[in-house]
Amino acid sequence: MSISRIAVLSALLLSACYPKTGVPPGPFSPEQIARGQARRPAVTEDSLEQGSKLFIAQCGGCHSHPDINAIALDRWPSILPRMVARTKMYSSANDMLGDFIAAAHD
Ligand code: HEC
Repeated sequence: MSISRIAVLSALLLSACYPKTGVPPGPFSPEQIARGQARRPAVTEDSLEQGSKLFIAQCGGCHSHPDINAIALDRWPSILPRMVARTKMYSSANDMLGDFIAAAHD
């Protein structure tokens, strides 16, 4: 197999694994905050702000910021710790990012 064919194949494989790109959600509306709290009682405006900052700073470096709704809500709890482990964040980031996803997801 030629080198260029291998390059094309690996690019295709990578793009198939990579998350779909989206724009990080902006400030949360009262409805989104209530939706997040219904899903995760620990959600507060403060945890959402922290989660939002972490997501913007840490989750767009290797791949673009993922489209949160392109991943089913129930798949996120297994994905987040895997991604957080790839960064220098403490594992407590999982809670704030989990809160953030709970409010941001449709
Ligand atoms: C050090 C590089 C790196 C960082 C930082 C990183 N990712 Fe990833 N991410 C990857 C790679 C590589 C893949 C594809 C392979 C895989 O799923 O493990 C991926 C895949 C994903 C997927 C798709 C997983 C699936 O199973 O469909 C999502 C969603 C995702 N990342 C979200 C995030 C979030 C949220 C953050 C921030 C907490 C983050 N990533 C930070 C490298 C990274």
